[in-house]
Amino acid sequence: MSVLVTGAAGFIGFHTSLRLLARGDKVVGVDNLNPYYDPALKQARLAQLQAHPGFSFHQADIGDRAAMAAIADAHPEITGYINLAAQAGVRHSLKAPHDYSHSNVEGHLVMLELARANANCRNFVYASSSSVYGANTKLPFAVEDRVDQPISLYAATKRAGELMSHCYSHLYRIPTSGLRFFTVYGPWGRPDMAAYLFAKAILEGKPITIFNNGDMRRDFTYIDDIVSGVVGTLDHPAADDGVTPPAKIYNIGNTRSEKLMDFVGLVEQCLGRKAEYQFAPMQAGDVKETYADISAIQRDCGFAPTTPISEGVPKFIAWFKQYHGV
Ligand SMILES: NC(=O)c1ccc[n+]([C@@H]2O[C@H](COP(=O)([O-])OP(=O)(O)OC[C@H]3O[C@@H](n4cnc5c(N)ncnc54)[C@H](O)[C@@H]3O)[C@@H](O)[C@H]2O)c1
Repeated sequence: MSVLVTGAAGFIGFHTSLRLLARGDKVVGVDNLNPYYDPALKQARLAQLQAHPGFSFHQADIGDRAAMAAIADAHPEITGYINLAAQAGVRHSLKAPHDYSHSNVEGHLVMLELARANANCRNFVYASSSSVYGANTKLPFAVEDRVDQPISLYAATKRAGELMSHCYSHLYRIPTSGLRFFTVYGPWGRPDMAAYLFAKAILEGKPITIFNNGDMRRDFTYIDDIVSGVVGTLDHPAADDGVTPPAKIYNIGNTRSEKLMDFVGLVEQCLGRKAEYQFAPMQAGDVKETYADISAIQRDCGFAPTTPISEGVPKFIAWFKQYHGV
């Protein structure tokens, strides 16, 4: 199978591309390598992908219709789409809202149009986010829960992506699967996320900022489990009975809500150093707790996460030390 993976130089796109290549699929990677975080990390991921003969890469913006149409023309063999390119990050969406509408709304629409123009499209998989649940207090978060009260622009754009996808599944019978990822961590992870921020600050002897006085819980999900969910979903497109649109939405989480301070404790343990805590109030747009009900993806795609944080955090820290030469 030949798969167009957007955000291929990003954290999840890189690991997903590696898994597809390892099983013999061809990957056409797209990424604009933007400087939201250090592009050197994106280049380092890309260098590994480029060592595979089945990988080809285009530096392009998914919001650029002409550029994306040219890539589609150059690769008529594509039958699968995994749209992971996005402006990520809840907190940054308060500062740069237009980056979110460009990549997550306009860019997502450009990708749906590519799939619509491809008569051989077998499945269109895309990243949504657990943030669409807003301030939902019913736990665990289930795909049937209300998601029309976002509390960050990031969440609103991710929900927009889900709604547009549903519409394309209805109008053009394109199978679409939206994946609501829950706090992903692991080797090659994002420098703006907790695991990386904590490890970096602790090693530099700087205090770590703990929001809401540490009274937070997250469903931390290890990257290899996320990739199993993404690839499993790609392999199980929604069936079309001619009535219901072939549109699916799934949670992908570890289905364990962990105390933030337990996660911090594991990072400290792996680094062999105690952190200095700087407590701060809850951030605007942030939620206190996340916890995924994964029964839908378990049922449809056989998804089963296998990595507790006690195994995943040491793997992340081992990579972090090696990458930074610590
Ligand atoms: N990591 C998580 O915990 C998490 C949680 C929920 C949802 N997500 C979603 O999963 C997807 C992947 O996230 P990630 O953690 O790998 O983030 P990431 O930032 O590492 O990867 C995204 C990649 O997309 C690229 N990109 C951004 N805008 C683009 C554009 N307009 N055109 C082309 N490339 C563009 C970036 O350069 C980056 O390499 C995103 O859609 C994100 O919103 C991630």
